[in-house]
Amino acid sequence: MYSVRAAKPVDTEQITGLLDELFPGDPNRPTDTEFENLGKQHDPCMFVAADGCAVAGFLVLRDRILRLWTSVDFIGVDPAHESMGLGAMLTRQALLAAHRPLVRLFVRPSNTRAHRLYIRCGFREVARRRENYPDGEDAAIMMARSARFSLFGPKSTVIEPDKISA
Ligand SMILES: CC(C)(COP(=O)(O)OP(=O)(O)OC[C@H]1O[C@@H](n2cnc3c(N)ncnc32)[C@H](O)[C@@H]1OP(=O)(O)O)[C@@H](O)C(=O)NCCC(=O)NCCS
Repeated sequence: MYSVRAAKPVDTEQITGLLDELFPGDPNRPTDTEFENLGKQHDPCMFVAADGCAVAGFLVLRDRILRLWTSVDFIGVDPAHESMGLGAMLTRQALLAAHRPLVRLFVRPSNTRAHRLYIRCGFREVARRRENYPDGEDAAIMMARSARFSLFGPKSTVIEPDKISA
C-alpha cells in the first residue's frame, strides 16, 4: 500500500536511482547537502511515494527567492509502478505542501502523459518558454493555486515522515 510521506535520509539512494533513470544530467538535481538535510526541515520539500521503505516515486519542491510560486522541480515515478495513481498522489502533495500561493512547473508538451496528469490535478498552462530544453523543445509552463493559500484548503500542511497518507 503506497502512501506519500516526507523523504528521509534512508530514501536517498532510491531517490537518486530514480533521478539517474528518469532525469539524467538535469541541472536542478538536489545537492548532497539537500539530501543530508532530509528529515531536519520543519517544512519538508522532498517527498516520496513509498510502501514502507520501498520508494516508487518522488517529488522535489523548491522556493526560489522573490517568486510568488513554489516550483515543482521533479515529479518522477518508477516505470514499474506507473498508472497506479502515484503521480497524482505526488502532484496533489505538491499543492498541499507548497509554501507560496502558487505552484509552478515546466513540462515538455510532448510529455502528454505528464501534461494530462497536471491538468487532472488542477494545473493550467499559462505560457510557453521557447526552446527551453537542450534539444530545442519548448516548455509548457503550468500553474495551480496551492492549498495552503486557498480559502477552502487545509489550514496546516506540515508533514512529518510516516505521518501522512495521500
Ligand atoms: C508522468 C508520471 C509522473 C506519471 O506518473 P503515474 O504514477 O503513472 O501517474 P498516474 O498513475 O497518477 O496517472 C497516469 C495514468 O494512469 C491512470 N491510472 C491511475 N490510476 C489508475 C488505476 N488504478 N487503474 C488504471 N489506470 C490508472 C491515470 O488515469 C493516468 O491515465 P492517462 O495517462 O491516460 O491520463 C510518470 O509517468 C513519470 O515519472 N514519467 C517520467 C518522468 C516525467 O516525465 N516526469 C514529469 C516531468 S514534468
